[in-house]
Amino acid sequence: MKIRKATPRDAEPASLVLRRSISELCVRDHENDPLILQSWLTNKTPEKFREWAEAAEDFCCVAVGDQGAILGVAYLARSGEIRLNYVSPDARFQGVSGALIAAIEAEAMRWGLTRLFLKSTATAHRFYLERGYRDEGAPETDRLRDSIYPMAKPLDYRGRLGNKA
Ligand SMILES: CC(C)(COP(=O)(O)OP(=O)(O)OC[C@H]1O[C@@H](n2cnc3c(N)ncnc32)[C@H](O)[C@@H]1OP(=O)(O)O)[C@@H](O)C(=O)NCCC(=O)NCCS
Repeated sequence: MKIRKATPRDAEPASLVLRRSISELCVRDHENDPLILQSWLTNKTPEKFREWAEAAEDFCCVAVGDQGAILGVAYLARSGEIRLNYVSPDARFQGVSGALIAAIEAEAMRWGLTRLFLKSTATAHRFYLERGYRDEGAPETDRLRDSIYPMAKPLDYRGRLGNKA
């Protein structure tokens, strides 16, 4: 598996990975509620992915398997916000999200950022805690969902090593 910058040509398979990851892996968050799923999936389209891949100031990357399949997708905004980190259900618990986050942290440090932040799903909360991200206040609720976890990680010496906390 390797991590590389996304290109607009990845749009179809990468948006499918996003959609499958949310639908199949984040059940704890959406509980198969059609309204929640619809609002979550609405911008996970090939058109939107092309925009993300072409956003020159940000960093959109994909994990690619040995056979060339896209196994995961992540997106870091210039502000330090991790906006996407989704693994294919076909490649769960094989180090894909860990590798994507390590690539994002490395890119953030190249940019000179000192802090990363995100809103975690309940599904991924433990994953982030184990990688040095910390809760920033109580879980939030939006129009449809409970338990959205604001989290952040300083990119200090420990972050530089990309290690778990
Ligand atoms: C939980 C998730 C993020 C882990 O990513 P992955 O690519 O499957 O797995 P990795 O091998 O990179 O990471 C494994 C880690 O997942 C966590 N994990 C392991 N089992 C888990 C489980 N049953 N449930 C939740 N997290 C688990 C642990 O932190 C584990 O680390 P460890 O193996 O060092 O103990 C991923 O499987 C997932 O469900 N993603 C859904 C999309 C999502 O919620 N993305 C975050 C948006 S903010």
